[in-house]
Amino acid sequence: MKSRIIGTGSYTPEKVLTNYDLEKIVDTNHDWIVTRTGIEERHIAAEGEFTSDLAAIAAKRALDAAGLSAEEIDLIVVGTITGDYPWPATACVVQAKLGAKNAYAYDVSAACSGFLFALANADDYLIAGRGKKALVIGAETFSRSLDWTDRNTCVLFGDGAGAVVLEAQDGDAGVLASHLHTDGNHIELLYQPGFGAVYPASAEGLEKRLPYLKMQGNEVYKFAVRMMTEVSKAVLKEQGFRCADVDLFIPHQANIRILEATAKRLKLTDDQCFINVQKYGNTSAATIPIAIDEAQREGRLKEGNLLLLAAFGGGFTWGGTLVRW
Ligand code: UT7
Repeated sequence: MKSRIIGTGSYTPEKVLTNYDLEKIVDTNHDWIVTRTGIEERHIAAEGEFTSDLAAIAAKRALDAAGLSAEEIDLIVVGTITGDYPWPATACVVQAKLGAKNAYAYDVSAACSGFLFALANADDYLIAGRGKKALVIGAETFSRSLDWTDRNTCVLFGDGAGAVVLEAQDGDAGVLASHLHTDGNHIELLYQPGFGAVYPASAEGLEKRLPYLKMQGNEVYKFAVRMMTEVSKAVLKEQGFRCADVDLFIPHQANIRILEATAKRLKLTDDQCFINVQKYGNTSAATIPIAIDEAQREGRLKEGNLLLLAAFGGGFTWGGTLVRW
C-alpha cells in the first residue's frame, strides 16, 4: 500500500510584481535580483484575497484533476506560516470553503519545508489505514509578512498555493520515503519575531518591524545547500537509488544559486531539475506543490518516473521525499 498522487493543482494571484516594479519601492535593481536570486517576478495577492482563498482554488483544481468531490476527502493538511489567522488553522477555513465536510483539517508550521512535512503526515495517516484520501496543500501570502522597506528580504518572496490529492492504493506508485529534520538552534537566522507570545502586539514592536520576516540570507544559504544535498543523498541511499536514477528533481525554489549548487553537488543534469523560481520567487511551503503541478501539466512527469523533492526553511527544518509517479 502506498499514498499515490492522483491529482495536482496550483494557483498564483493575478497581480504580478516585477523587479522593475520593485526598483520603485526599495533601493534595488533588476540585474542585482536576477544575478543573486534568478527571480524575475512574483505574484501578489489582491486586497481581500487570503491564504485560504489561494489554497482552496489550488485544492479545487487538484480535486478536479483527480475526478473527486470535496466530500470524498478524509483529511486536509495545509503547510503554511502565513495563514489567515494566528488560529484557528487555515486548513479549517479551507475545509469550509471547499465544503469538505467529512475531512478533519489542520495546519503544519514548518516554514519552507511545510509541504514536505504535511505530505509525510498525510502519507503516515493513509498508510496507517486511518483514511483513504487526503488533500495536502502548501499555501502562502508572504507579501503580508514582508517588510517592504527591507531590500534584503522583500525582493525574494511571493504568494501562491499548490495542492495534491493523495489516495491509498496498492501497487508501486506513490510516496516511497520521507526524511524530515529539524535543528532549532538557529531560529533567529530566519523567523518572524512578533507578534507571538515573546513579543505580543504593541505599537513599539510595530515600529521595530517585529511582525515581519527577518533573515540573515547568506547564513541561511549555506545551510540550505548543505542540508538539501545531504537529505537528498540519504533518502536515495535508503531506497537503493543513485542520483542518476532520478527522473525529476524538484527542490524548494528559494534562489536559483541554491538550486544550482545543490544540483551540482548531487551531480544532476539540467534535464533532471525543475526550476520555476524566476516566475514566482520564494512562495515558501507552496513552491514544491506549484512546481509538481507545473511539471505534471508540462508532461515532465510520466508514470513510473522517480521524483526527488527537497526543501529547507526556517526552524531550521528540512526534508527529502522520494515519489514513484
Ligand atoms: O526558503 C529558505 C529561506 N531563504 C533562502 O533560502 C534565502 C537564502 N539566501 C539567499 O538567497 C541569498 O543569501 C540572498 C539572495 C538573500 C542574498 O545574496 P548574497 O549573495 O548572500 O548577498 P549578501 O547578503 O552577501 O549581500 C550582498 C550585498 C550587500 O551589500 P554590501 O553589504 O556588500 O555593500 C547587500 O546590502 O547586496 C546588497 N543587497 C542588495 N542590493 C540590491 C541586499 N539586497 C539587495 C537588493 N538589491 N535587493
